[in-house]
Amino acid sequence: MEMPLDQEKHQFRIQRLATQLANQIAAGEVVERPSSVAKELLENSLDAAATQIEIDVEQGGTRLIRVRDNGSGIHKDDLVLALSRHATSKISVLDDLGRISTLGFRGEALPSISSVSRLTLISAQQGDSAAWRVSCEGKDPDAGPVPAAHPRGTTVEIRDLFYNTPARRKFLRTEKTEFGHLEEVVKRIALSHFNVGFQLRHNQRAVQSLKPAKSDLDRIQRIVAICGRPFIENAIRIDDEIAGLHLWGWIGLPTYSRSQTDLQYFYVNGRVIRDKLVSHAVRQAYKDMLYHGRHPAFVLYLELPPEQVDVNVHPTKHEVRFRDSRLVHDFLFRAIHNALAGIRPGDHAEPTQRTDKLRDDSDGVNMQTRTAPLSARAYTSSYGGHRQSSMPLHVHEQLSTAYAALYNHEQHPAQIQAGSDPQEVPPLGFAIAQLHGVYILAENVDGLIVVDMHAAHERIIYERLKTTFDEGNVKSQPLLVPVPIDVNEKEAALAEEYNEIFTELGFEIQRIGPTILTARDIPAVLCDANIEALIRDVLADINTYHDSKRIRDKINEILSTMACHGSVRANRKLTIPEMNALLRDMESTERSGQCNHGRPTWTQLTMKELDRLFMRGR
Ligand SMILES: Nc1ncnc2c1ncn2[C@@H]1O[C@H](COP(=O)(O)OP(=O)(O)OP(=O)(O)O)[C@@H](O)[C@H]1O
Ligand SMILES: [Mg+2]
Repeated sequence: MEMPLDQEKHQFRIQRLATQLANQIAAGEVVERPSSVAKELLENSLDAAATQIEIDVEQGGTRLIRVRDNGSGIHKDDLVLALSRHATSKISVLDDLGRISTLGFRGEALPSISSVSRLTLISAQQGDSAAWRVSCEGKDPDAGPVPAAHPRGTTVEIRDLFYNTPARRKFLRTEKTEFGHLEEVVKRIALSHFNVGFQLRHNQRAVQSLKPAKSDLDRIQRIVAICGRPFIENAIRIDDEIAGLHLWGWIGLPTYSRSQTDLQYFYVNGRVIRDKLVSHAVRQAYKDMLYHGRHPAFVLYLELPPEQVDVNVHPTKHEVRFRDSRLVHDFLFRAIHNALAGIRPGDHAEPTQRTDKLRDDSDGVNMQTRTAPLSARAYTSSYGGHRQSSMPLHVHEQLSTAYAALYNHEQHPAQIQAGSDPQEVPPLGFAIAQLHGVYILAENVDGLIVVDMHAAHERIIYERLKTTFDEGNVKSQPLLVPVPIDVNEKEAALAEEYNEIFTELGFEIQRIGPTILTARDIPAVLCDANIEALIRDVLADINTYHDSKRIRDKINEILSTMACHGSVRANRKLTIPEMNALLRDMESTERSGQCNHGRPTWTQLTMKELDRLFMRGR
């Protein structure tokens, strides 16, 4: 067969790429925009054990990114080498790759960056009498190191990023956008190393100034500087450990959810990670506590032996692979889930420790409540040191028993005074009235409690249904007179087909005609519900999910539908003992701070806040 002419000309020969071109190709993966340069330089400074890092940026990083650290420095004879590919001080043999404890390991970052910018590297090591400098423009350094002035540590200066790769430059956005990305990188990294101070300047203007955080308070201040005060006021401390896995940090209350995933910081052994397995575990843990489409906020640190995690799976090292991913997933899920389940009324901090006024909702944060901000207590108690569970469960159990007797009394207990012994008043206090058939008003040690009675009751019933369903014994109650329910043929067929699921849910339902069902038993907790409407809604759910497997996956949604029917409607008059019983139930129910849709169920107005309303100085 004859070859086409133009193919003949090329002869299919292989040639080695010029070093600069090879580096530029590698840079395509490593250096996407100024923020990726900042990330690599900051990681190098951290690997060099710097305790102070200064970042100067001009024009969003396109004109200048200068990172200066006080780390270990680079040996004079290694300066040129540091800029060539596959040169690293961090690993040397294959086995090292399986137990990486530094952020860098590929020996790719500096050569990649230098191939698409004008780079200067200045460094001095401990005991050096002078510092040394090398510069290069897009290619290997022309000359060896020349003397320079610099204290111990390293400065890397990147000018005119992508000056020689116009295709890349075209993709850069506005100065503001690029700087925004870069600042986010600095924030993420600053949260990963509390012991390091960071200064960020943009066009000579100070943007972030974070001193090394040594005490608990310093660390909280750094979180506040980066995540905002409302986050820490609406977060609980988490600290959990099993089988060499250690998870700690802060998780936002479900009521403090976000419309975006922008307040999610996750670190694996000090490395910033965005990982599907991690997001999935977190999402599961917050399941049915958030409004649809809302995202939780968190700052979490996972620590595990380096051999158990492979960091060499992604060009920007943003993803990891866990050796035992199942174990890690379950551990994350359980730790977060348990911490959230433990949020109870009364877990909030002492009013005196609480920051005065919550900010308004200007940053898109869903802040409708000030229930249960544990943060103040969490941060006065322990940071990283000893392990503590975030939920004083036993305390609640004792309280519930102690007050079980009390709430059976019709009379209002002795008036609660400022300074009353908190041990004698339950966290949600004692009911004093019902407002417009919607809210329960109660008095506790701190002041006034307002409870959305329907939302609270719905959550209690839902939790009860879930527990009994999981244990396989939803209690049924026979109806005195079986209730007939008119349905269409399709619904009647569904009721027959999925009768087993109805039974598990605590119903006994029969089809007694083409379009007629009867209910003989219903779940005991729903005995006050409108049975016809209840069954119709469950049928509608079943119709939506349609096959048994999906129905089982969505069982919580069905239970939630049922709970809505079983809970007290607005406008139902409750007696004081009934209200007190509800308050005590809330105190002993998991996740009772939010209703099934993530709305808060109660809130506190302290005496101080009331005084302020009346301008009553104390
Ligand atoms: N700020 C710094 N302080 C001290 N040494 C540094 C610094 N920056 C770079 N180095 C040295 O230069 C080497 C090359 O850096 P480079 O970032 O290119 O590769 P790496 O960090 O080893 O791996 P990676 O490509 O994964 O980042 C490093 O291994 C380190 O020895
Ligand atoms: Mg590096």
